[in-house]
Amino acid sequence: MTVNVTVTGAAGQIGYALLFRIASGQLLGPDVPVRLRLLEIPAAVKAAEGTAMELDDSAFPLLEGIDVTDDAKRAFDGTNVALLVGARPRTKGMERGDLLEANGGIFKPQGEAINAGAASDIRVLVVGNPANTNALIARSHAPDVPSDRFTAMTRLDHNRAMAQLSKRLDVPVSQIKKLTIWGNHSATQYPDVFHAEVGGQNAAQALNDAEWLRDTFIPTVAKRGAAIIEARGASSAASAASAAIDHVNTWVNGTPEGDWTSMAVVSDGSYGVPEGLVSSFPVVCKDGAWEIVQDLEINQFSRDRIDASVGELAEERDAVRNLGLI
Ligand code: NAD
Ligand code: LMR
Repeated sequence: MTVNVTVTGAAGQIGYALLFRIASGQLLGPDVPVRLRLLEIPAAVKAAEGTAMELDDSAFPLLEGIDVTDDAKRAFDGTNVALLVGARPRTKGMERGDLLEANGGIFKPQGEAINAGAASDIRVLVVGNPANTNALIARSHAPDVPSDRFTAMTRLDHNRAMAQLSKRLDVPVSQIKKLTIWGNHSATQYPDVFHAEVGGQNAAQALNDAEWLRDTFIPTVAKRGAAIIEARGASSAASAASAAIDHVNTWVNGTPEGDWTSMAVVSDGSYGVPEGLVSSFPVVCKDGAWEIVQDLEINQFSRDRIDASVGELAEERDAVRNLGLI
C-alpha cells in the first residue's frame, strides 16, 4: 500500500537532502511506494515545485506522486508519516531559546491539521528546532492522536556520538551498541556511554578516560550543531536528513536485536523525567512502536546531566505555556 509522507520546509536545505532519499525507498524500505506531500510557506512554494520537478526527473520507481501546497490541512490530510522540518534555523550566535517564539507559532496549526486529517497510523517526527518543544506544541494541539506518535529528533546527536566514539577507539561504528542521548536536542543534551558496548565490551571501561569523556566527548557531541554552523556558515543539512531517515526507518522497521536507539518521545515519567515533556531516551522499536528501555542504572555523573537537560526542557515548556502556545 502506498504510504503518504508529508515533509514541511520542503524547499529548505534539509528538505533538499531528504526528499530524494525518501523517494528512493530509504525511509520505509525498498518495496514501499510513497506519495510525497510538500508543505511550504507561500513564498517558497515555487522553489518546492522546482524540487518536485527534479524528483519527477529522477524517475523513482517507488514515487507515486507529489503534491506541493501551502495549506497545512491539505498537506496532512490522510498522511501516514509527517516530517516537520520547516522552521527557522539557528544562525550564528543564536541559542535555541531565541527560536521558541519564532517557531512555536508554526507547530500549533500543524498539530491541529494533523489532528483533523492525518491517517490513524500517523507517525510524526519533528526536526525543526527547538525540536523537542516544537513536538510538545504540535502534540498538545492534536488531542485525538495518541501521544506516542509525536517524536523529536535526537538521532543526529546519537549518530554524532557514535562517530566520535568510533574515532577515539578506532572501531567501526557497526561495533558500537546501546549509546544513549538523554534530554534536549541542545547543548545541554547528555550523550551517555555508560551502558554502551564496543565490540561486546562496556564502552566506558574500554575508554578508561573519565577526563576525555567529560571534557572532550560530551561537549563535542553536544556542541556539534554549533561547530557545523561555524564551519559551513549554515546548519547541518545532509547529516540531519540522514538522521531523519534513520529515525523513521528504525521506528517502522525496528531496532536490531541487542541494541537500542535514541528518540525524543513524550515522557511517561521514566527515569524521573516529568510526564509529558518530549525528552530523549534509550528506546527499542518493534512492530512499528517504541518503548523506553527500563531499569538502567543511572550513576550520579549521568543523573546530574540528565537533570540539567530535562530542567531546560521544563523551562522551554513553561516559556511556550506563557506564550499561549500549549
Ligand atoms: P532552511 O531555512 O533551509 O529551510 C527551512 C524551510 O522551512 C524554508 O524553506 C522555509 O520556507 C520553511 N518553512 C518555514 N516555516 C514554514 C511553515 N510554517 N510551514 C512549512 N514550511 C515552513 O532550514 P533547514 O536547514 O532545512 O533546517 C530546518 C530546521 O531543522 C531548522 O529549525 C534547523 O534548526 C533544524 N535542524 C534540526 C536538527 C535536529 O537534529 N533536530 C538538525 C539540523 C537542523
Ligand atoms: C544541529 O544539531 O546541527 C542543528 O540542530 C542545528 C543547530 O542549531 O545546532
